[in-house]
Amino acid sequence: MTTILAIESSCDDTSAAVLRDDTLLSNVIASQKVHEQYGGVVPELASRAHQQNIIPVVDAAIREAGIEREDIDAVAFTRGPGLLGSLMVGVSFAKSFALALGKPLIEVNHLQAHVLSHFIRVGSGESAVDSTRAQMPPTFPFICLLVSGGHTQILLLHSHFEMELLGQTIDDAAGEAIDKAAKIMDLGYPGGPIIDRLAKEGNADAYKFATPHIAGYDYSFSGIKTSFLYFLRDRLKEDPDFIEKHKADLCASIQKTIVGFLLKKVERAALDRGVKQIAIAGGVSANSLLRSELQHICQKHHWQAFVPPFKFCTDNAAMVGIAGYFKYLQGDFADQSLPPYTR
Ligand code: KG4
Ligand code: ZN
Repeated sequence: MTTILAIESSCDDTSAAVLRDDTLLSNVIASQKVHEQYGGVVPELASRAHQQNIIPVVDAAIREAGIEREDIDAVAFTRGPGLLGSLMVGVSFAKSFALALGKPLIEVNHLQAHVLSHFIRVGSGESAVDSTRAQMPPTFPFICLLVSGGHTQILLLHSHFEMELLGQTIDDAAGEAIDKAAKIMDLGYPGGPIIDRLAKEGNADAYKFATPHIAGYDYSFSGIKTSFLYFLRDRLKEDPDFIEKHKADLCASIQKTIVGFLLKKVERAALDRGVKQIAIAGGVSANSLLRSELQHICQKHHWQAFVPPFKFCTDNAAMVGIAGYFKYLQGDFADQSLPPYTR
């Protein structure tokens, strides 16, 4: 049996988790409220908050897992991509902790971790969860749509760490576009969950926003964002209360546009490559329309859909732990001298 302590600090969530093999024993996340008032993550404030949170978060993860420090076999950490100042806190902590324990280090790529979150087994020891694995993990090959605030990629997984990039955004990430749409409407930050909630009361066919024609399986979101902005500018000239009056319809319509665009390319990629298992991962995979539409498409084609539990969609250390576990099995350890990387 292998016990891994995992650390995630790439953006604005400080998180630590403990896994015993592929089973999650604890997953503690400290989200940073400080950014809300600025409508986005302020890197300088994020690193400061990580510095304050890291020790209590790791302490809580070890305590909740019911283990002793001596039980830890390796320390896994997110090396990148992310914000440099944020990463430095987690990376430095992981290095010193591993050194103090005399245990090996494992570096994890944040994007691979999001994808591998599908392989986490939820144990009865984890306080915040009630059930074991809701569904068996996907088998190879499978397609994963990775959608977060920083990335939008269609990946074809041949094995845990062999991820073939089929397509990606050429400009903004899907989550970024959603967050910007929310900002234009002055809804708050992060906009994704707010738009998701308001969209439930709106008519998704109220407004149409064109999606760009991009070759292959690539995406572009900057045009959608701009057409949304110009559309609202025109309407606001006629009625200054337009957004307030039509908030729910606007959210539902922009959400439908983005989700439809995302899944259209995924569906085509799966058909072209003859893949029958489709997974989603990353913060935007928490979106209720994306989750239900993926299920629809998969039912239509008799494919299997893999939708992660909500707590593994946004940034968390459990996903870093599972990636670390698979690397541990391969004997893939990191050196103390490794610096973080931002992209
Ligand atoms: O993976 P994540 O936590 O951080 C990054 O690595 O970027 O993703 C954050 C993104 C944000 O853009 C946030 O608005 C979006 O995920 N998000 C959502 C939802 N929950 C989070 N987008 C749409 N619907 C949601 N329910
Ligand atoms: Zn992420």
